[in-house]
Amino acid sequence: MEPGSNIKRSLVTDLSNISGWVIVSAVLIALFFIVFQLVSPFSSVASLEVHRLAGKQLALGGRADIPACASCHGLQGQGNEKTAIPRLAGLHPDYIKKQLEDYARSPLKTRAAVEPIARDYIKTPRTYGDLTVFTPGIRQHSSMNKLARMLSAEDRHNLAVYYSELTFVAAPKAYDFETLERGEDLALRGKPEYGLPACDSCHGPRGQGFGAIFPPLVGQPVAYIIAQINHWQTGKRDNDHLALMRNVADQLTDGDKVNVAAYYDNLSYSVNRE
Ligand code: HEC
Ligand code: HEC
Repeated sequence: MEPGSNIKRSLVTDLSNISGWVIVSAVLIALFFIVFQLVSPFSSVASLEVHRLAGKQLALGGRADIPACASCHGLQGQGNEKTAIPRLAGLHPDYIKKQLEDYARSPLKTRAAVEPIARDYIKTPRTYGDLTVFTPGIRQHSSMNKLARMLSAEDRHNLAVYYSELTFVAAPKAYDFETLERGEDLALRGKPEYGLPACDSCHGPRGQGFGAIFPPLVGQPVAYIIAQINHWQTGKRDNDHLALMRNVADQLTDGDKVNVAAYYDNLSYSVNRE
């Protein structure tokens, strides 16, 4: 027998022992992650419920100086046609959060934070002379500005969770054929001869919204849709990523606004997130 072969052998058994332990601990770690994966959905559902309930309390009951959202947006977050107040029920939670952040932002602060270099292409481009700057947008409305500034990030999150989970059913309204036909033309075709894309190309099929960036048009009060397009035209609302909606609004006539809003008001629609 060669001297040293024992040493070699014991080294080999040591190594195989070590690799045994490595396998055992790898299996244990894998088991831990599998169990964690099984359990975590339940814990996140539970924490979602905590946020939803906190949002519900604020939305229906208000707090100190904060009035109940329901007093304007309705008990089911359904909005109000007469006062041109938007529906919040079933909107994407990140869209709701973004709007509350935009309302809370002060126009003065926005100017001070102007970025000379376009680092974040998702922000709103504003052109001053020959310089284009990218800044987060603002949305002006006296009562929503005042209110949004009183909300914490936690409040915004809770309210977004609560409203995004509410169900909503639209009651389609009748309009004359000509109005609907013109509205449908804008919604599905746009005005390609002027480079205006169809509303549905961004707002999704039947204007039902697409993700967090493109809100639904169907199920929003007609008066609200018309008012928002007007606000883009006058610059009161200036918070859309890449000025996507501003460029559209700039090309719409008063007749277009009425026709297209009527078209969406005539569609049946329901959102049920349960
Ligand atoms: C005094 C009435 C009033 C109260 C109270 C109120 N809102 Fe509003 N809200 C409005 C009006 C009016 C608008 C549309 C304003 C505009 O033209 O930008 C609006 C718009 C919004 C929007 C934008 C929706 C969209 O589709 O872009 C969100 C989100 C919102 N409100 C959330 C809330 C929340 C959350 C609360 C409670 C903390 C609340 N509002 C309380 C009147 C109110
Ligand atoms: C190129 C993409 C694009 C097209 C095309 C487009 N929009 Fe929009 N629109 C947007 C974006 C993005 C927003 C959300 C802006 C924000 O973040 O607040 C928006 C928001 C709106 C809102 C406000 C909704 C709310 O809940 O506050 C209305 C109303 C609207 N669009 C109407 C229209 C109509 C009508 C057309 C067709 C004539 C149209 N849009 C076409 C991108 C588009």
